[in-house]
Amino acid sequence: MATPHINAADGAFAETVLMPGDPLRAQYIAENFLENAELVTDVRNMFGYTGTYKGKKVSVMGHGMGIPSCSIYVHELIKDYGVKNVIRVGSCGAVKDDVKLMDVIVAQGASTDSKVNRTRFADHDFAAICDFHLMETAVGEARKQNVSVRVGNVFSADLFYSPEADLFNKMDKLGILAVDMEAAGIYGVAAELNARALTILTVSDHIIRGEALSSDERQKSFNEMMTVSLETAIN
Ligand code: ADE
Repeated sequence: MATPHINAADGAFAETVLMPGDPLRAQYIAENFLENAELVTDVRNMFGYTGTYKGKKVSVMGHGMGIPSCSIYVHELIKDYGVKNVIRVGSCGAVKDDVKLMDVIVAQGASTDSKVNRTRFADHDFAAICDFHLMETAVGEARKQNVSVRVGNVFSADLFYSPEADLFNKMDKLGILAVDMEAAGIYGVAAELNARALTILTVSDHIIRGEALSSDERQKSFNEMMTVSLETAIN
């Protein structure tokens, strides 16, 4: 049955869905990495596709920007479409000094200034963590493919344009690797609905050093992350 935000048929999604923020990235992944990909949902142009990778059924769908947007799509995919594994494939801004542009970050945990996980948990701290099996598989794949990978804590920010510049230095001191805007929300939804989730990110900019990837470097590092993520999806 269609949901308010997804108009796919029952059974249209694979058990594992890869999720970039940008729906046009979902289209790019479907067209360039999957075989026989078909569009299965297009509400608000938040495109979702199902095809195969190395013969195994895999879906890809955009989740938009920020925790409210991704929480809606991940919730409906798990609850209404029976999705078991969600792998966010996104970008992040590094804060830790020894993280380099183009590194791949596997978000083992996700801190946040969002209140969503406190709302779920009587206002207590909830340690938003990824699924161990997905993480282990992704790290193994990255090493196999010689991709420079870092594993650790990220910070899922509500504000892209933060007025609190010193917060980034505090994150660095606490060992947080990088900032995204969704991982903590996706981990919270997956925990609530008993599904597995992982966030894999490319470092597109370094917030403290003020560095950013060129568009060619962006594409190359996105493609590297995608092969790691697709192998994780089928293993
Ligand atoms: N994604 C990529 N760069 C980012 C940044 N600087 N802050 C939050 N999310 C990001």
